Amino acid sequence: MDLFTYRNGELYCENLPVRQMVDSGIGTPTYIYSATTFREHYSRMASAFAELDPIICYSIKCCQNIHIIRLLVDQGAGMDVVSGGELYRALKAGADPSKIVYAGAGKTDKEINEAIDAKIGWFNIESEAELGNLIHIASQRQTTVRAALRVNPDVDPKTHRHTTTGKKETKFGVDIERARRTFEEYGRNKSVRLCGIHLHIGSPVNAVQPYVEAIEKALDLILALRRDGFEIDTLDIGGGYGADYSAGEALSGKAYAQMIVPLLRGQGLKIILEPGRSIAANAGILVTRTLFIKRSGDRQFVIVDGAMSDLIRPALYDAYHFVWPVAPGPQYALTERLRDLNMPETVRVDVVGPVCETGDFLAKDRDLPPIKRGDLLAVFSAGAYGFTMASHYNSRPNAAEVLVEGSTFRTIRRRETYDDLIAAEEQV
Ligand code: LLP
Repeated sequence: MDLFTYRNGELYCENLPVRQMVDSGIGTPTYIYSATTFREHYSRMASAFAELDPIICYSIKCCQNIHIIRLLVDQGAGMDVVSGGELYRALKAGADPSKIVYAGAGKTDKEINEAIDAKIGWFNIESEAELGNLIHIASQRQTTVRAALRVNPDVDPKTHRHTTTGKKETKFGVDIERARRTFEEYGRNKSVRLCGIHLHIGSPVNAVQPYVEAIEKALDLILALRRDGFEIDTLDIGGGYGADYSAGEALSGKAYAQMIVPLLRGQGLKIILEPGRSIAANAGILVTRTLFIKRSGDRQFVIVDGAMSDLIRPALYDAYHFVWPVAPGPQYALTERLRDLNMPETVRVDVVGPVCETGDFLAKDRDLPPIKRGDLLAVFSAGAYGFTMASHYNSRPNAAEVLVEGSTFRTIRRRETYDDLIAAEEQV
């Protein structure tokens, strides 16, 4: 579900025409988010899993704007963080520290101390070495923290090789066999109460079976650990739930829950979920303006002012993002976000940015209505891992971010200036 729809040949976000918003001074490239979609996606996930009364820790890395975090905190979300910076954002946004989980294979001592100061809920531990270090810091500080051991269940989520995390050969978590040894060695420590198991198998995972397999393995492990006298009270099943990039390929929260909830019912475990993409991806678009049309051999390029420095997913993962004009006129308006089979003449184009890299493209080989200089294009499903992965490559100031709610909108991140680009260099 999302609230980006075409009405009378124009794209709307909730009740606002995108073109009008952009022309009112926001400019391009700009990320536009729908507040109602964010809330709806969060609450669909929460209600699908409600029977388990889980903590839903929004994965900040996917869309980190503090206004978005606040919006989700207001819905009752906890937060999944992976750095001191993300923890800082979560706390600034008013997140309940006891509902914060902190994962990441390389936490620095500074970050660990900050998380202890904040009294976060759980450290998600990725290796024995990290656990040893956390024990060292916590015992020196004469404090007790809670931790969950991230277990690598060795299942194949069949996603992109860069976003697969639950296979044995990735850098995340410890193997199941090793997990038991880790508990034997560290599981009775007083400074770090190792009381949970954490899973995250990859992203996006458009199937339920890999979760089922991973959770079954984790439950077997928990049973064995409990038999050995360890008190395990938490299972964090991670994120990775899908989003719609092309044609409704994402499973609903309900579909995941239908298979997952029965496994976890009555297990005496606090359940944590860490969704990111399933909440944010379809809640945001990137709007970019056409600078030039260029013909080269038999290819036609639509050169736009948005680039891989704004949205790197196509360049990095060959990711597909649906692209369509913001105001294509009634004959090209889409009823669904899917291609309409009865379109009049379309032209096959590559949509590319101004960055000096051949890999700088947003869409390749797409049949679009005829585009001319000045036309706005919407890059859909860009709410997750869009702005957060932006860079300043080619000294391009980062895009603005705008949040729409009903018939109003507000800028939640101003467009960066040239001064922003050199500020940290000048202030030395
Ligand atoms: N939990 C952990 C431990 C994670 O590593 C991740 C994502 C999540 C939760 C959230 O996963 P989600 O629900 O958003 O799928 N940049 C890539 C995705 C990288 C995912 C990293 N970890 C992309 O653009 O597709």
